[in-house]
Parts: sequence; C-alpha cells; structure tokens
Amino acid sequence: MKDIKNIISIKDLSSEQINYILTVAEDIEKNPEKYKNILRGKVIASLFFEPSTRTKLSFETAIKKLGGNTVGFDDIQTTSVKKKETFSDSIKVIAGYSDLVVMRTKIEGASRLASEMTDKPIINGGDGTNQHPTQTLLDLYTIKKEKKLENLTIGFFGDLKYGRTVHSLVEAISLYQPKKIKFISAPQFGIGKEYLEMLDKKEIEYEIHEEAKGNLKDLDILYVTRTQVERIVEPIEIEPLKKKYTITKELLDAEENPELIVMHPLPRVYEISKEIDDTKHNVYFKQSNNGIPVRKALICILLKLV
Ligand code: CP
Repeated sequence: MKDIKNIISIKDLSSEQINYILTVAEDIEKNPEKYKNILRGKVIASLFFEPSTRTKLSFETAIKKLGGNTVGFDDIQTTSVKKKETFSDSIKVIAGYSDLVVMRTKIEGASRLASEMTDKPIINGGDGTNQHPTQTLLDLYTIKKEKKLENLTIGFFGDLKYGRTVHSLVEAISLYQPKKIKFISAPQFGIGKEYLEMLDKKEIEYEIHEEAKGNLKDLDILYVTRTQVERIVEPIEIEPLKKKYTITKELLDAEENPELIVMHPLPRVYEISKEIDDTKHNVYFKQSNNGIPVRKALICILLKLV
C-alpha cells in the first residue's frame, strides 16, 4: 500500500487506504493494551486557530491514551502570531519541536500549505468550509460499524453549502458505490455544483429536495449538519428556516423507517430535537466517541508505528 504521509483532504486517499485506516482503528479499539505505550517519547503539536471541542479533545485524549504528549494552543492571541510572526515561520518552528502536527484553521488550504513547509506529518483538523478528513474517517468508521459502507441510500440534511463535513463525506462515500444520495436543504444552503458534477462523472444517482418529509422512508442513514453561521457570507435569515429544518421524533415516526440511523458531526444547535436522543435512531454520540480509535489509528499510521 502507498504510504500515507499527511491527512489533508479525503480526496488524497484511495478506498484501499481508507479501508486500511479503518482496520487499524478497529484493532486499536479491540486491543487497547497492545497500543497503550506506542507513542512513548513522541510529542504531537495540536494547533487550533479555530474553536473545537471534539476534534481537539479527542486527538488529545487519543495521544494520551497511547502514551504520548501534546503541546499546542487554542488561542492564537497567546502566541507570537500576535507579534506578527508569519504562518510559515510558526509552522516551521512548531514542526521542529514535535513529531506530528494536528491543525485547524479558518483558511481553506492552510494545512496543505503547512505540509509543504515541513517533512513532519500534518493532519488537517478542518480548514474553513473546505475539508474535515478526520471527521469523515470517523463517520465512515461509524457507518461501517452500524450498517455497511457499500450500496447505501444516504441523505444529507441541513447546511450543505458551508458544511465541510458534508463535503468530505460526499467525496468519501462516492468511493463505495452508494445506491442513492439525497441532498435535503433550503435552496440557500444547497450542495455545491462541483459535488454534483463529481457524482455525475461517477454515475452515482442523487436527488435534491427542499424538505425532509416524505424523503426519509428509503434512507439507511440521515446525516444532519448545523447551519454554519460563522461562515455565511450572504445575508440569509436563519430564524424562518429553523422549524422546517429540524428533525423531530414526530417526523421520524411518520416516516416509518425504524432502521434509519441519524448521524451528526456535532455540535448540534437546533437541527435534531433532543427527544431523538432517547431513540434507536440516535447514533451521533457513538459517532463522536468513534473519533478516539480513528484518531489513534491516524497518528500511529503517519508515524509509521503500525
Ligand atoms: N465535529 C467537530 O469537528 O466538532 P468540533 O468543532 O467540536 O471539533
């Protein structure tokens, strides 16, 4: 298998490489004792130029459970960026201190740029509206555990325009011959045409809908995302859309699809009613926990420890 040097975009990975990552994650989850000191003596830099709960803390938990150490920041105001140090100089210095760098930025392409400035592995923990490949890998891990990766009917619901987790997962799931993809959103938050062109090219069937009602009956998975208010550039009124774009228990009951699993990268705001938390549809908290074995696997693979 071709070496995996960095994790920048899901588009850089073949299905063979993704399957390998998921297999290593499975082994790590099943055999925690075998891996508990594998990162002894290693230092991982965790650079969060944008807020995060899950990505940052699950990486840090993964590193600590594997016996490694972390350095980093989640507030650039406390760093020398405040003294106008360039991104490039900061990355070169921090990569010199550490064995691997995990980073999240507002700027699309920043992780790719960082990977060109150092030989140390770089993991993209999210770059603007572009990509969130480690989220996608944990999404795939969850789908594999809960259903199967191939021949799925999957619906994407919510903000499909600015949601980077949707963009990464549409790319990834297209490698596994989905039966059909449904994009369900307000027209202002529709999926970009580059993703539809990619699906056309691969002859993957898709549908575009404006409402969930009547469109959940044939789904294996409903992947919900929040409105990325911090990224919206046009003047869009969110308030009038909230009711129509919330998945409720009443709606799920009416769709009569008891096997449907609901996923969400989290954080959730209003788009999934809390009453769904207590139903069999809820997979989103398990999904979040799956970040640990997948991120452990990525670090071990990039550091060539497995
Ligand atoms: N899913 C996700 O990326 O969550 P955080 O923004 O909390 O890291």
